[in-house]
Amino acid sequence: MRTIKCGDYHELSVKAAEILAGCVGEKADCILGLATGSTPVGLYQELIGLYQAGKLDFSRVRTVNLDEYVGLAPEHPQSYRYFMEGKLFRHINIAPENTHLPNGLSDDPEEEGRRYDRMIEALGGIDLQILGIGHNGHIGFNEPAEVFTPGTHAVELSESTIKANSRFFAAADEVPRRAITMGIGSIMRAKKILILVEGAAKAEILKAAFAGPVDPRVPASILQLHRDMTLIADKAALSCM
Ligand code: PGA
Repeated sequence: MRTIKCGDYHELSVKAAEILAGCVGEKADCILGLATGSTPVGLYQELIGLYQAGKLDFSRVRTVNLDEYVGLAPEHPQSYRYFMEGKLFRHINIAPENTHLPNGLSDDPEEEGRRYDRMIEALGGIDLQILGIGHNGHIGFNEPAEVFTPGTHAVELSESTIKANSRFFAAADEVPRRAITMGIGSIMRAKKILILVEGAAKAEILKAAFAGPVDPRVPASILQLHRDMTLIADKAALSCM
């Protein structure tokens, strides 16, 4: 694991954008695994800036997102499809048909998960996966559990995740209880992984994930076993390491 320590969130976003731009530079039709949440928003702003400056071309890039809420339509302002359109896709020259998220409206979320993994494989596999980490150690919506779940699957969200995500909804009871998430195996098959962590509130979980044992009760700890993993974090997040 490589660690890049940044002074602040802006530096973290710039460094992450450099790495992602490098991936697109090497392989114009690369497959990028993308994430939602607050942490990658700065990265997406940097990517938009690079595109607007003529330094980055997304015309052949394909993207696959980590997760989507069950029951939210793409037009729902809290859906992850809506988030990605607003924070990134609408502002760059990516073809809509090259952007993929799990279908939250599928009648059969488990089958949708299997379809999603087959689709990623058919595209050729993820070249670079962007991740954040939840306060409980989740990656995507892989919540703390007794075992790691390999494939893309439907999950019941934990109370702590519902509470954390309620900041985006009018009330906690509007947060969907279920989501479809890439599984741990789906994430670990990515050729490269870049995890972004910001702020003192993540310092304890970051230590548990990367300085403790590999344990499904801290899902991100599995990343210790990935052979091309980069952690980009600010000083505050690294304060317990
Ligand atoms: P955050 O979410 O970037 O909004 O902190 C991270 C996550 O829950 O994976």
